[in-house]
Amino acid sequence: MTPDWQRRAYSIDAMRLLARRALPRPVFDFADGGAEDEHTLRRNEAAFQEVELLPRPLSGSAARDLSLTLFGKRLSLPVVIGPTGLAGLFWPDGERCVARAAETAGTAYCLSHGSVATLEDVAAAGNAPKWMQVFIYKDRGFTRELAERAAKSGYDALVLTVDNQLLGNRERDIRNGFAIPPRFGLSGLAGMALKAEWLWRMRREIKRVTFGNYVRPGEAADIKTLAGRMASLLDPSMSWTDVDELRKTWTGPLILKGILHPDEAAASVERGIDGLIVSNHGGRQLDGAPATIDALPAIVDAVDERIPVLIDGGVRRGGDVVKALALGAKACLVGRPQLWGLAVAGEAGVVHMLDIYRREIDRVMGLCGISAVADINQDIVFKP
Ligand code: FNR
Repeated sequence: MTPDWQRRAYSIDAMRLLARRALPRPVFDFADGGAEDEHTLRRNEAAFQEVELLPRPLSGSAARDLSLTLFGKRLSLPVVIGPTGLAGLFWPDGERCVARAAETAGTAYCLSHGSVATLEDVAAAGNAPKWMQVFIYKDRGFTRELAERAAKSGYDALVLTVDNQLLGNRERDIRNGFAIPPRFGLSGLAGMALKAEWLWRMRREIKRVTFGNYVRPGEAADIKTLAGRMASLLDPSMSWTDVDELRKTWTGPLILKGILHPDEAAASVERGIDGLIVSNHGGRQLDGAPATIDALPAIVDAVDERIPVLIDGGVRRGGDVVKALALGAKACLVGRPQLWGLAVAGEAGVVHMLDIYRREIDRVMGLCGISAVADINQDIVFKP
């Protein structure tokens, strides 16, 4: 029998609402929110709705093939799990739950630098293709160290996020007094009582929530100290020289995440980068940056099929994935939806979340008359 939560989690948006009910407000808002006026956050979703699909029902087939090859690995659908810090705040051992769910669904998992579990522990969880996300730090040696640890642990690709060189100004976190580990003052207790399941589930974990990859032997492991160290390590003066250095260190696929400008896309190809993620960090960094689906076509043009272009930000429907592919993306990443999946039902919730995308992509392809993701192209985008 279908569990009750699965019936109620019939779409990504429905999952978000269930997650909102399950999570303490500061935790929900930490994931749900964006920078400043949240213009870019809203635009990411709204801009997808401005793209319309032009179907050809008479050229369809009985079954659709959603699979593709990405960085040498076969994936069963064009949706990859994007890096989100502190997944372990949403469900105990959140990162390993997501890694295993990715394996079940037949897709890849990108681990955030800011995971609660260490990259070594996550590497051992499940057999999904795994990508490791890093930053360029003021201490360049630490970037190198993370890359070397990822190589040693068998990660398949390295993702360098370039749009987090300063911390975005997330005002919901300021309003909620969001702190790590969460502090529950008197004012928050009334609301907390309604989140009893999360509190009970997390009762032991909450003290252990930390940035696992930053813990050094013999040094303080408390999250406050580590969060301070992490923020102080961000470096707005990073440049192409640093990308070139990392290119020398990491011999596997190297992907840049946070590219919005076509010039930077073209330069990436020239510097031997293997893939791009068109991203505005889910509207959490530069408020006023364009929606990613709007920025995609110029980047696809600049790259000219030399390397795969991926996209994230506001992908909430299978139809959004089809639209992104039609405009030249090879696959989409999803950030927040994995956290909603975790909050609702842990590993099973993330499997279910990926299944929603799979079913929706399949249905949209069927309705459009497309039998394989490889056949999705500009022809299906309606141009009035
Ligand atoms: C993120 N994102 C992110 N990106 C990254 O490169 N490193 C990180 O550690 C994080 N951490 C993180 C935490 C949380 C709570 C969220 C919501 C997001 C950004 C993420 O990878 C992705 O770019 C966006 O989330 C994509 O937008 P959607 O799918 O959330 O709309």
